[in-house]
Amino acid sequence: MLWSRSALPYDMFDVHHTDREARRARRMESIYHVGQDRIWDGRDVLATLIDRHGKPRLADRERRALSRIFSVIMWGELAAWKISAQLADVIVPLPAKLAASSQVHDEARHFYVMHDYLEALGEKPPELDKWSRRVLTMTLGTKSLAKKLLGMQLTIETIALTIFQRVRELQVEPVLSELLPYYERDEARHVGLGIQMLPSLIAKMSFAERVDLAIFHLDLYGSAVMSLKSLEPSLVSIGVDPRSLLAIGFRKQSDIDDMLREEFPSWPQDPPEQRLFAGFCELLFPTGGPDAKLSSRARVRAALEVIRRRRPGVLEIEADKRASRRTDNLSRAAVDG
Ligand SMILES: [Fe+2]
Ligand SMILES: [Fe+2]
Repeated sequence: MLWSRSALPYDMFDVHHTDREARRARRMESIYHVGQDRIWDGRDVLATLIDRHGKPRLADRERRALSRIFSVIMWGELAAWKISAQLADVIVPLPAKLAASSQVHDEARHFYVMHDYLEALGEKPPELDKWSRRVLTMTLGTKSLAKKLLGMQLTIETIALTIFQRVRELQVEPVLSELLPYYERDEARHVGLGIQMLPSLIAKMSFAERVDLAIFHLDLYGSAVMSLKSLEPSLVSIGVDPRSLLAIGFRKQSDIDDMLREEFPSWPQDPPEQRLFAGFCELLFPTGGPDAKLSSRARVRAALEVIRRRRPGVLEIEADKRASRRTDNLSRAAVDG
């Protein structure tokens, strides 16, 4: 489906919409227009925040940890820039093409502002660990439009939103805490393209293609959790418990599933791969944290029990403990309008 960059698609307006499709088209178009209305100047915003709070200052250990985590974000923004440019090129229907094009502009700004922020912090962004690189290159490299949307709009965006929310809530560094809401607003809008476009692509797939997509999704999630594991020491240094990130991520994913179900009532509720993923998280980040000092055998047993629903996973446990839902930005995803 991708990369047929032959002629200009003169038939791009020859689409006949049902009411529901027409509403989806309007929502995708509004991603572009809302993006234009809420555009922000990255140079002004960063300079104003540095004027207000002074240059970011942290102790060596925290500074290195923050720079490690946000260099993953910075390279992720570069990948998002490239991926959204691929989407803007190959998508034909005008409303979705407009949405992807506005994302390209946003991701370019996210990339240079994060670069400038890390420079002000005084750290050179290190290269990516192998698992974060895998998440990004899988999404960059796939030729399937459905996999690209699932990887970019519904997975990478969710991971970024999760990290932004937790770091903002913990007020690790004041310039960053005030900068992140600008990113969150944009990223939440980008999720909208995936929600509006992906299910109709899946609806046209064969069973084998759907299984292939589910395997891709699981691989992507698995790699994301492995990358979280490799970032664990840095996260702990700035006071972020990785399980709290998993809980926020799961919750955002379930919000996305609800939005998908609103658009496409047949969207599956709690698909089996989600439970498998919860078990994998329990294996890597056991209840009780590293202090629980569980044997590998006990960890595997706990993971299997989570998969079989004989014990709660990280989502159920953390959801009861935390009341930060009101600060979720995804529910404000600018897919309305
Ligand atoms: Fe971004
Ligand atoms: Fe984004």
